[in-house]
Amino acid sequence: MSFDLVLFGGTGDLAWRKLMPALFQAFRHGTLPSNGRIIGVGRDDLSSGQYRALIQSRFDKVELAKRPSAEEFARFAAILDYVRVDLSQPGDYANLAACLQSRNADTVVMYVATAPALFTTVCEQLAASGLNTPHTRVVLEKPLGHDLASNRAINRTVRQFFEEKQVFRIDHYLGKPAVQNLFALRFGNALFEPLWRREHIANIQITIAEDLGVESRGAFYETTGALRDMVQNHALQLLCAIGMEPPINAHADAIRDEKLKVLRSLKPWTQETLVQDVIRGQYASGTRDGDKVPGYREEPGVDPHSRTETFVALRTEIANWRWAGVPFYIRTGKRLAGRDARIVVNFRPTPHAIFNSNIDVANRLIINLQPKDGLELHLLAQGQENRQNRTSTATQSLAPVQLDLDFDKRFGCERVGAYERLLLDVIDGRLNLFVRSDEQEEAWRWVEPILTHWANDSQGPRPYASGTWGPSASSAMIARDGFCWSEES
Ligand code: BG6
Repeated sequence: MSFDLVLFGGTGDLAWRKLMPALFQAFRHGTLPSNGRIIGVGRDDLSSGQYRALIQSRFDKVELAKRPSAEEFARFAAILDYVRVDLSQPGDYANLAACLQSRNADTVVMYVATAPALFTTVCEQLAASGLNTPHTRVVLEKPLGHDLASNRAINRTVRQFFEEKQVFRIDHYLGKPAVQNLFALRFGNALFEPLWRREHIANIQITIAEDLGVESRGAFYETTGALRDMVQNHALQLLCAIGMEPPINAHADAIRDEKLKVLRSLKPWTQETLVQDVIRGQYASGTRDGDKVPGYREEPGVDPHSRTETFVALRTEIANWRWAGVPFYIRTGKRLAGRDARIVVNFRPTPHAIFNSNIDVANRLIINLQPKDGLELHLLAQGQENRQNRTSTATQSLAPVQLDLDFDKRFGCERVGAYERLLLDVIDGRLNLFVRSDEQEEAWRWVEPILTHWANDSQGPRPYASGTWGPSASSAMIARDGFCWSEES
Protein backbone atom coordinates (compact mmCIF):
# COMPACT_ATOMS: atom_id res chain seq x y z
CA MET A 1 0.00 0.00 0.00
CA SER A 2 1.38 3.43 -0.87
CA PHE A 3 0.56 6.59 1.06
CA ASP A 4 1.23 10.29 0.94
CA LEU A 5 0.99 12.09 4.26
CA VAL A 6 0.64 15.84 3.83
CA LEU A 7 1.46 17.92 6.90
CA PHE A 8 -0.18 21.35 6.73
CA GLY A 9 1.75 23.40 9.24
CA GLY A 10 4.81 21.37 8.25
CA THR A 11 7.26 23.86 9.76
CA GLY A 12 5.13 24.53 12.85
CA ASP A 13 5.55 23.52 16.46
CA LEU A 14 3.37 20.45 16.43
CA ALA A 15 5.09 19.08 13.33
CA TRP A 16 8.57 19.07 14.80
CA ARG A 17 7.68 18.48 18.44
CA LYS A 18 5.25 15.60 18.04
CA LEU A 19 4.47 14.51 14.49
CA MET A 20 7.94 14.14 12.94
CA PRO A 21 9.33 12.34 16.01
CA ALA A 22 6.31 10.01 15.98
CA LEU A 23 6.66 9.32 12.26
CA PHE A 24 10.36 8.73 12.71
CA GLN A 25 9.68 6.25 15.53
CA ALA A 26 7.24 4.36 13.31
CA PHE A 27 9.89 4.38 10.58
CA ARG A 28 12.51 3.12 13.01
CA HIS A 29 10.16 0.42 14.36
CA GLY A 30 9.44 -0.72 10.79
CA THR A 31 5.70 -0.11 11.20
CA LEU A 32 5.41 2.80 8.78
CA PRO A 33 4.30 1.25 5.46
CA SER A 34 7.37 1.26 3.26
CA ASN A 35 5.91 2.88 0.17
CA GLY A 36 5.18 6.25 1.73
CA ARG A 37 6.00 9.92 1.46
CA ILE A 38 5.72 12.66 4.06
CA ILE A 39 5.12 16.05 2.51
CA GLY A 40 5.58 19.11 4.68
CA VAL A 41 3.50 22.07 3.58
CA GLY A 42 4.28 25.61 4.69
CA ARG A 43 4.42 29.21 3.61
CA ASP A 44 8.20 29.47 3.71
CA ASP A 45 10.03 29.29 0.45
CA LEU A 46 12.08 26.14 1.03
CA SER A 47 13.40 23.40 -1.20
CA SER A 48 12.84 19.81 -0.08
CA GLY A 49 16.53 19.69 0.84
CA GLN A 50 16.23 22.77 3.03
CA TYR A 51 13.13 21.34 4.67
CA ARG A 52 14.95 18.11 5.48
CA ALA A 53 17.81 20.11 7.00
CA LEU A 54 15.33 22.12 9.08
CA ILE A 55 13.64 19.00 10.41
CA GLN A 56 17.01 17.39 11.15
CA SER A 57 18.09 20.44 13.16
CA ARG A 58 14.83 20.35 15.11
CA PHE A 59 15.45 16.76 16.11
CA ASP A 60 18.23 18.12 18.34
CA LYS A 61 15.51 19.39 20.65
CA VAL A 62 13.72 16.05 20.81
CA GLU A 63 14.40 13.67 23.71
CA LEU A 64 17.54 11.63 23.13
CA ALA A 65 15.88 8.22 22.76
CA LYS A 66 13.76 9.55 19.90
CA ARG A 67 16.59 11.26 18.03
CA PRO A 68 17.86 9.64 14.83
CA SER A 69 21.53 8.99 14.17
CA ALA A 70 22.91 10.68 11.04
CA GLU A 71 22.56 7.42 9.14
CA GLU A 72 18.97 6.87 10.33
CA PHE A 73 18.01 10.43 9.44
CA ALA A 74 19.47 10.02 5.95
CA ARG A 75 17.17 7.04 5.36
CA PHE A 76 14.17 8.82 6.89
CA ALA A 77 14.89 11.99 4.89
CA ALA A 78 14.49 10.03 1.67
CA ILE A 79 10.72 9.98 2.24
CA LEU A 80 10.47 13.68 3.23
CA ASP A 81 9.38 16.31 0.74
CA TYR A 82 8.24 19.91 0.94
CA VAL A 83 5.71 21.97 -0.99
CA ARG A 84 5.29 25.70 -0.53
CA VAL A 85 1.64 26.68 -0.11
CA ASP A 86 0.21 29.85 1.34
CA LEU A 87 -2.96 28.30 2.69
CA SER A 88 -4.98 31.44 2.10
CA GLN A 89 -4.00 31.56 -1.60
CA PRO A 90 -6.22 29.33 -3.76
CA GLY A 91 -3.64 29.37 -6.57
CA ASP A 92 -0.98 27.76 -4.36
CA TYR A 93 -2.93 24.51 -3.91
CA ALA A 94 -2.10 23.64 -7.53
CA ASN A 95 1.51 23.03 -6.40
CA LEU A 96 0.26 20.45 -3.93
CA ALA A 97 -2.09 18.87 -6.47
CA ALA A 98 0.80 18.49 -8.93
CA CYS A 99 2.97 16.88 -6.26
CA LEU A 100 0.27 14.39 -5.25
CA GLN A 101 -0.82 13.57 -8.77
CA SER A 102 2.76 12.75 -9.73
CA ARG A 103 2.49 9.59 -7.65
CA ASN A 104 -1.19 8.89 -7.21
CA ALA A 105 -0.75 7.04 -3.89
CA ASP A 106 -3.39 4.55 -2.65
CA THR A 107 -4.05 6.69 0.44
CA VAL A 108 -3.58 10.41 0.92
CA VAL A 109 -3.65 11.77 4.46
CA MET A 110 -4.10 15.51 4.92
CA TYR A 111 -2.99 16.39 8.45
CA VAL A 112 -4.22 19.89 9.22
CA ALA A 113 -1.91 21.01 12.03
CA THR A 114 -2.59 24.72 11.53
CA ALA A 115 -4.38 27.48 13.38
CA PRO A 116 -8.04 26.35 13.65
CA ALA A 117 -9.15 29.47 11.77
CA LEU A 118 -7.66 27.88 8.65
CA PHE A 119 -9.44 24.49 8.87
CA THR A 120 -12.40 25.45 6.73
CA THR A 121 -10.26 27.29 4.15
CA VAL A 122 -8.00 24.28 3.79
CA CYS A 123 -10.96 21.91 3.30
CA GLU A 124 -12.59 24.24 0.78
CA GLN A 125 -9.39 24.66 -1.18
CA LEU A 126 -8.62 20.95 -1.18
CA ALA A 127 -12.05 20.36 -2.69
CA ALA A 128 -11.61 23.18 -5.20
CA SER A 129 -8.36 21.56 -6.36
CA GLY A 130 -9.99 18.13 -6.67
CA LEU A 131 -8.00 16.78 -3.73
CA ASN A 132 -11.01 15.44 -1.81
CA THR A 133 -10.98 12.04 -3.50
CA PRO A 134 -12.54 8.94 -1.85
CA HIS A 135 -9.06 7.75 -0.81
CA THR A 136 -8.26 11.01 1.00
CA ARG A 137 -8.35 11.20 4.81
CA VAL A 138 -8.33 14.44 6.76
CA VAL A 139 -6.84 14.70 10.24
CA LEU A 140 -8.00 17.65 12.32
CA GLU A 141 -6.09 18.74 15.40
CA LYS A 142 -7.73 20.25 18.42
CA PRO A 143 -8.97 22.81 19.29
CA LEU A 144 -11.76 22.34 16.78
CA GLY A 145 -13.50 25.63 17.37
CA HIS A 146 -13.80 27.66 20.55
CA ASP A 147 -17.47 26.97 21.32
CA LEU A 148 -20.36 24.89 20.06
CA ALA A 149 -21.26 27.22 17.19
CA SER A 150 -17.72 27.44 15.80
CA ASN A 151 -17.23 23.70 16.20
CA ARG A 152 -20.42 23.02 14.30
CA ALA A 153 -19.44 25.45 11.57
CA ILE A 154 -16.16 23.57 11.05
CA ASN A 155 -17.91 20.21 11.05
CA ARG A 156 -20.48 21.49 8.56
CA THR A 157 -17.82 22.66 6.12
CA VAL A 158 -15.79 19.49 6.47
CA ARG A 159 -18.91 17.39 5.84
CA GLN A 160 -19.58 19.22 2.59
CA PHE A 161 -16.40 17.81 1.11
CA PHE A 162 -15.61 14.65 3.07
CA GLU A 163 -17.63 11.77 4.46
CA GLU A 164 -17.51 11.25 8.24
CA LYS A 165 -15.45 8.07 7.74
CA GLN A 166 -12.74 10.17 6.04
CA VAL A 167 -12.42 12.57 8.99
CA PHE A 168 -10.02 11.78 11.83
CA ARG A 169 -10.45 14.20 14.74
CA ILE A 170 -7.44 13.62 16.88
CA ASP A 171 -7.37 13.59 20.67
CA HIS A 172 -3.91 12.32 21.49
CA TYR A 173 -5.03 11.13 24.94
CA LEU A 174 -6.95 8.34 23.21
CA GLY A 175 -3.66 7.13 21.72
CA LYS A 176 -1.90 6.84 25.07
CA PRO A 177 -1.08 3.23 25.98
CA ALA A 178 -2.73 3.68 29.39
CA VAL A 179 -6.03 4.56 27.75
CA GLN A 180 -5.81 1.44 25.58
CA ASN A 181 -5.19 -0.44 28.80
CA LEU A 182 -8.26 1.05 30.35
CA PHE A 183 -10.37 -0.37 27.54
CA ALA A 184 -8.58 -3.71 27.93
CA LEU A 185 -9.08 -3.67 31.69
CA ARG A 186 -12.78 -2.96 31.43
CA PHE A 187 -13.77 -4.98 28.39
CA GLY A 188 -11.14 -7.74 28.24
CA ASN A 189 -11.62 -8.88 31.84
CA ALA A 190 -14.74 -10.04 33.62
CA LEU A 191 -13.40 -9.20 37.08
CA PHE A 192 -14.31 -5.53 37.41
CA GLU A 193 -17.55 -5.28 35.44
CA PRO A 194 -19.86 -6.40 38.28
CA LEU A 195 -18.22 -3.81 40.56
CA TRP A 196 -18.21 -1.03 37.99
CA ARG A 197 -21.35 0.74 39.17
CA ARG A 198 -22.94 2.93 41.77
CA GLU A 199 -23.51 0.12 44.26
CA HIS A 200 -19.75 -0.37 44.67
CA ILE A 201 -18.06 2.84 43.62
CA ALA A 202 -18.06 5.90 45.86
CA ASN A 203 -16.46 8.37 43.48
CA ILE A 204 -14.11 8.65 40.52
CA GLN A 205 -11.35 11.24 40.18
CA ILE A 206 -9.66 12.19 36.94
CA THR A 207 -6.51 14.27 37.33
CA ILE A 208 -4.35 15.61 34.51
CA ALA A 209 -1.69 17.67 36.24
CA GLU A 210 1.21 19.34 34.48
CA ASP A 211 4.20 20.90 36.21
CA LEU A 212 5.08 23.02 33.19
CA GLY A 213 3.58 26.46 32.58
CA VAL A 214 2.36 27.73 29.24
CA GLU A 215 5.93 27.92 27.92
CA SER A 216 6.02 29.72 24.57
CA ARG A 217 2.28 29.31 23.95
CA GLY A 218 1.07 32.30 25.99
CA ALA A 219 -0.68 34.02 23.08
CA PHE A 220 -2.52 30.84 22.09
CA TYR A 221 -3.39 30.00 25.68
CA GLU A 222 -4.81 33.44 26.37
CA THR A 223 -7.72 32.73 24.05
CA THR A 224 -8.03 29.09 25.05
CA GLY A 225 -7.64 28.39 28.79
CA ALA A 226 -7.68 25.05 30.58
CA LEU A 227 -11.36 24.30 30.04
CA ARG A 228 -11.09 24.42 26.25
CA ASP A 229 -7.52 23.10 26.12
CA MET A 230 -7.89 20.06 28.37
CA VAL A 231 -11.40 19.50 29.77
CA GLN A 232 -13.58 19.75 26.64
CA ASN A 233 -11.47 17.07 24.98
CA HIS A 234 -8.88 15.03 26.91
CA ALA A 235 -10.58 14.90 30.31
CA LEU A 236 -14.04 14.23 28.88
CA GLN A 237 -12.66 11.46 26.68
CA LEU A 238 -11.16 9.84 29.79
CA LEU A 239 -14.47 10.23 31.56
CA CYS A 240 -16.19 8.49 28.64
CA ALA A 241 -13.68 5.64 28.67
CA ILE A 242 -14.21 5.07 32.38
CA GLY A 243 -17.99 5.55 32.39
CA MET A 244 -19.21 4.07 29.09
CA GLU A 245 -21.23 0.89 28.74
CA PRO A 246 -19.48 -2.07 27.10
CA PRO A 247 -19.72 -1.54 23.33
CA ILE A 248 -21.26 -4.36 21.27
CA ASN A 249 -17.98 -4.85 19.42
CA ALA A 250 -14.68 -3.08 18.91
CA HIS A 251 -15.70 -1.19 15.78
CA ALA A 252 -15.29 2.54 15.74
CA ASP A 253 -18.96 3.43 15.70
CA ALA A 254 -19.88 0.93 18.42
CA ILE A 255 -17.31 2.57 20.71
CA ARG A 256 -18.23 6.09 19.71
CA ASP A 257 -21.95 5.45 20.19
CA GLU A 258 -21.28 4.46 23.81
CA LYS A 259 -19.04 7.47 24.46
CA LEU A 260 -21.70 9.74 23.01
CA LYS A 261 -24.27 8.28 25.43
CA VAL A 262 -22.04 9.20 28.37
CA LEU A 263 -21.68 12.77 27.14
CA ARG A 264 -25.42 13.03 26.68
CA SER A 265 -25.98 11.73 30.21
CA LEU A 266 -23.78 14.30 31.93
CA LYS A 267 -25.86 16.18 34.44
CA PRO A 268 -26.89 19.55 33.02
CA TRP A 269 -25.51 22.60 34.81
CA THR A 270 -27.65 24.83 36.99
CA GLN A 271 -26.78 28.28 38.36
CA GLU A 272 -26.09 26.61 41.68
CA THR A 273 -23.81 23.86 40.37
CA LEU A 274 -21.94 26.32 38.16
CA VAL A 275 -21.05 28.30 41.27
CA GLN A 276 -20.38 25.40 43.63
CA ASP A 277 -19.03 22.63 41.44
CA VAL A 278 -16.66 24.40 39.07
CA ILE A 279 -13.46 26.01 40.32
CA ARG A 280 -11.11 27.95 38.09
CA GLY A 281 -7.61 29.02 39.01
CA GLN A 282 -4.61 30.80 37.57
CA TYR A 283 -1.03 30.12 38.57
CA ALA A 284 0.90 32.78 40.42
CA SER A 285 4.67 32.65 40.87
CA GLY A 286 6.14 29.83 42.92
CA THR A 287 8.70 27.09 42.54
CA ARG A 288 9.38 24.13 40.32
CA ASP A 289 12.11 21.67 41.32
CA GLY A 290 13.35 24.26 43.80
CA ASP A 291 13.67 27.02 41.18
CA LYS A 292 11.57 30.17 41.20
CA VAL A 293 9.09 30.34 38.34
CA PRO A 294 6.96 33.31 37.18
CA GLY A 295 3.20 33.56 37.43
CA TYR A 296 0.97 33.17 34.40
CA ARG A 297 0.46 36.92 34.03
CA GLU A 298 4.22 37.39 33.72
CA GLU A 299 4.58 34.85 30.91
CA PRO A 300 5.42 36.11 27.39
CA GLY A 301 2.35 36.82 25.29
CA VAL A 302 0.05 37.00 28.32
CA ASP A 303 -2.00 40.04 29.34
CA PRO A 304 -0.77 41.25 32.79
CA HIS A 305 -4.46 41.45 33.83
CA SER A 306 -5.44 38.17 32.19
CA ARG A 307 -8.51 36.30 33.46
CA THR A 308 -7.65 33.12 31.58
CA GLU A 309 -7.82 30.00 33.72
CA THR A 310 -4.84 27.66 33.92
CA PHE A 311 -6.62 25.31 36.33
CA VAL A 312 -10.08 23.76 36.45
CA ALA A 313 -11.60 21.40 38.98
CA LEU A 314 -15.19 20.30 38.64
CA ARG A 315 -17.72 17.82 39.86
CA THR A 316 -20.23 16.14 37.64
CA GLU A 317 -22.45 13.06 37.49
CA ILE A 318 -23.43 10.65 34.77
CA ALA A 319 -27.18 10.51 35.10
CA ASN A 320 -27.99 6.90 34.16
CA TRP A 321 -28.76 3.65 35.96
CA ARG A 322 -25.15 2.61 36.32
CA TRP A 323 -23.83 5.84 37.78
CA ALA A 324 -26.68 7.88 39.27
CA GLY A 325 -25.40 9.80 42.31
CA VAL A 326 -21.71 8.88 41.90
CA PRO A 327 -19.58 12.03 41.73
CA PHE A 328 -17.01 12.24 38.97
CA TYR A 329 -14.35 14.83 39.70
CA ILE A 330 -12.15 16.27 36.98
CA ARG A 331 -9.08 18.34 37.70
CA THR A 332 -6.44 19.70 35.38
CA GLY A 333 -3.95 22.50 35.52
CA LYS A 334 -0.58 23.87 34.63
CA ARG A 335 2.28 24.52 37.07
CA LEU A 336 0.88 22.06 39.57
CA ALA A 337 2.91 20.03 42.07
CA GLY A 338 3.95 17.44 39.51
CA ARG A 339 3.31 15.86 36.13
CA ASP A 340 0.74 13.29 36.98
CA ALA A 341 -2.20 11.99 35.00
CA ARG A 342 -4.31 9.36 36.70
CA ILE A 343 -7.81 8.09 37.20
CA VAL A 344 -8.70 6.99 40.70
CA VAL A 345 -11.67 4.74 41.28
CA ASN A 346 -12.61 4.83 44.96
CA PHE A 347 -14.73 1.87 46.01
CA ARG A 348 -17.21 1.97 48.84
CA PRO A 349 -16.12 0.63 52.22
CA THR A 350 -17.30 -2.77 53.43
CA PRO A 351 -20.97 -2.65 54.46
CA HIS A 352 -20.19 -3.86 57.97
CA ALA A 353 -16.88 -3.65 59.81
CA ILE A 354 -15.76 -6.71 61.76
CA PHE A 355 -12.15 -5.68 62.20
CA ASN A 356 -11.16 -3.33 64.89
CA SER A 357 -9.27 -1.17 62.50
CA ASN A 358 -8.57 2.48 62.76
CA ILE A 359 -7.69 2.64 59.11
CA ASP A 360 -10.31 4.53 57.23
CA VAL A 361 -9.55 3.46 53.70
CA ALA A 362 -11.54 1.46 51.24
CA ASN A 363 -10.36 -0.32 48.11
CA ARG A 364 -9.06 1.84 45.36
CA LEU A 365 -8.03 1.25 41.77
CA ILE A 366 -5.60 3.73 40.27
CA ILE A 367 -5.04 3.89 36.55
CA ASN A 368 -1.76 5.73 36.05
CA LEU A 369 -1.49 7.41 32.67
CA GLN A 370 1.76 9.30 33.09
CA PRO A 371 4.56 9.66 33.89
CA LYS A 372 4.29 5.95 34.63
CA ASP A 373 1.86 3.71 32.87
CA GLY A 374 0.30 1.13 35.12
CA LEU A 375 -2.37 0.01 37.52
CA GLU A 376 -2.45 -0.05 41.29
CA LEU A 377 -5.05 -1.95 43.24
CA HIS A 378 -5.16 -0.86 46.87
CA LEU A 379 -6.38 -3.55 49.23
CA LEU A 380 -6.39 -4.18 52.96
CA ALA A 381 -4.52 -7.07 54.52
CA GLN A 382 -3.88 -8.40 57.98
CA GLY A 383 -1.32 -6.14 59.59
CA GLN A 384 0.59 -6.58 62.86
CA GLU A 385 -1.29 -8.86 65.24
CA ASN A 386 -2.32 -7.43 68.61
CA ARG A 387 -0.57 -9.89 70.95
CA GLN A 388 -2.33 -8.82 74.10
CA ASN A 389 -5.61 -10.24 72.99
CA ARG A 390 -4.84 -13.15 70.64
CA THR A 391 -8.15 -14.96 70.95
CA SER A 392 -10.35 -12.27 69.60
CA THR A 393 -10.52 -11.57 65.86
CA ALA A 394 -12.03 -8.24 66.83
CA THR A 395 -8.56 -6.96 67.64
CA GLN A 396 -7.02 -7.84 64.30
CA SER A 397 -5.76 -4.80 62.61
CA LEU A 398 -5.76 -4.08 58.90
CA ALA A 399 -2.92 -2.64 56.91
CA PRO A 400 -3.04 -1.15 53.42
CA VAL A 401 -1.22 -3.13 50.72
CA GLN A 402 -1.18 -2.73 47.01
CA LEU A 403 -0.88 -4.71 43.81
CA ASP A 404 1.22 -2.68 41.46
CA LEU A 405 1.40 -3.33 37.74
CA ASP A 406 4.04 -1.42 35.84
CA PHE A 407 3.24 -1.70 32.13
CA ASP A 408 6.43 0.05 31.05
CA LYS A 409 8.41 -2.72 32.76
CA ARG A 410 6.11 -5.49 31.64
CA PHE A 411 5.88 -4.49 27.99
CA GLY A 412 9.16 -2.62 27.63
CA CYS A 413 9.91 1.06 27.41
CA GLU A 414 9.89 1.00 23.60
CA ARG A 415 6.10 1.17 23.65
CA VAL A 416 4.28 2.89 20.87
CA GLY A 417 3.64 6.55 21.74
CA ALA A 418 0.26 8.24 21.32
CA TYR A 419 0.99 10.15 18.11
CA GLU A 420 2.84 7.23 16.57
CA ARG A 421 -0.09 4.94 17.21
CA LEU A 422 -2.66 7.44 15.96
CA LEU A 423 -0.73 8.32 12.80
CA LEU A 424 -0.43 4.64 11.91
CA ASP A 425 -4.16 4.23 12.56
CA VAL A 426 -4.93 7.07 10.14
CA ILE A 427 -2.75 5.54 7.45
CA ASP A 428 -4.53 2.19 8.01
CA GLY A 429 -7.96 3.85 8.12
CA ARG A 430 -8.82 2.73 11.69
CA LEU A 431 -11.18 5.21 13.29
CA ASN A 432 -11.60 3.61 16.75
CA LEU A 433 -9.43 6.11 18.55
CA PHE A 434 -10.75 9.22 16.84
CA VAL A 435 -13.59 11.45 17.89
CA ARG A 436 -16.80 11.64 15.88
CA SER A 437 -18.39 15.03 15.20
CA ASP A 438 -21.45 14.35 17.35
CA GLU A 439 -19.26 13.45 20.35
CA GLN A 440 -17.30 16.62 19.94
CA GLU A 441 -20.40 18.77 19.62
CA GLU A 442 -21.94 17.17 22.71
CA ALA A 443 -18.77 17.92 24.68
CA TRP A 444 -18.92 21.56 23.58
CA ARG A 445 -22.59 21.72 24.48
CA TRP A 446 -21.75 20.59 27.99
CA VAL A 447 -18.84 22.99 28.62
CA GLU A 448 -20.53 26.00 27.08
CA PRO A 449 -22.63 26.98 30.14
CA ILE A 450 -19.38 27.12 32.12
CA LEU A 451 -17.83 29.48 29.59
CA THR A 452 -20.91 31.69 29.63
CA HIS A 453 -21.03 31.70 33.42
CA TRP A 454 -17.36 32.71 33.64
CA ALA A 455 -17.77 35.43 31.05
CA ASN A 456 -20.42 37.03 33.28
CA ASP A 457 -18.73 36.38 36.60
CA SER A 458 -16.69 39.26 37.94
CA GLN A 459 -14.67 37.09 40.34
CA GLY A 460 -12.21 35.65 37.78
CA PRO A 461 -9.87 32.73 38.41
CA ARG A 462 -8.47 32.15 41.90
CA PRO A 463 -4.69 32.51 42.10
CA TYR A 464 -2.63 29.51 43.26
CA ALA A 465 1.07 29.30 43.88
CA SER A 466 3.03 27.44 41.22
CA GLY A 467 4.10 24.02 42.48
CA THR A 468 0.91 23.37 44.46
CA TRP A 469 -2.26 21.40 43.68
CA GLY A 470 -4.27 24.47 42.71
CA PRO A 471 -6.58 26.75 44.68
CA SER A 472 -7.79 25.46 48.05
CA ALA A 473 -11.37 25.85 46.80
CA SER A 474 -10.77 22.70 44.76
CA SER A 475 -10.19 20.68 47.95
CA ALA A 476 -13.15 22.40 49.61
CA MET A 477 -15.39 21.42 46.68
CA ILE A 478 -14.64 17.73 47.00
CA ALA A 479 -14.68 17.87 50.82
CA ARG A 480 -18.34 18.94 50.67
CA ASP A 481 -19.13 15.39 49.51
CA GLY A 482 -17.00 13.96 52.34
CA PHE A 483 -14.11 13.00 50.02
CA CYS A 484 -10.64 14.30 49.28
CA TRP A 485 -8.30 14.29 46.29
CA SER A 486 -6.21 11.13 46.16
CA GLU A 487 -2.91 12.83 47.08
CA GLU A 488 -4.52 14.20 50.26
CA SER A 489 -5.70 10.84 51.57
C1 BG6 B 1 -2.35 19.44 24.65
C2 BG6 B 1 -2.57 20.79 25.27
O1 BG6 B 1 -3.51 19.01 23.97
O2 BG6 B 1 -2.05 18.50 25.67
C3 BG6 B 1 -1.36 21.22 26.06
O3 BG6 B 1 -2.83 21.73 24.25
C4 BG6 B 1 -0.98 20.16 27.07
O4 BG6 B 1 -1.59 22.46 26.73
C5 BG6 B 1 -0.87 18.81 26.39
O5 BG6 B 1 0.26 20.53 27.64
C6 BG6 B 1 -0.67 17.70 27.41
O6 BG6 B 1 -0.37 16.52 26.74
P1 BG6 B 1 0.52 15.41 27.44
O7 BG6 B 1 0.48 14.26 26.49
O8 BG6 B 1 1.89 16.01 27.60
O9 BG6 B 1 -0.12 15.12 28.75
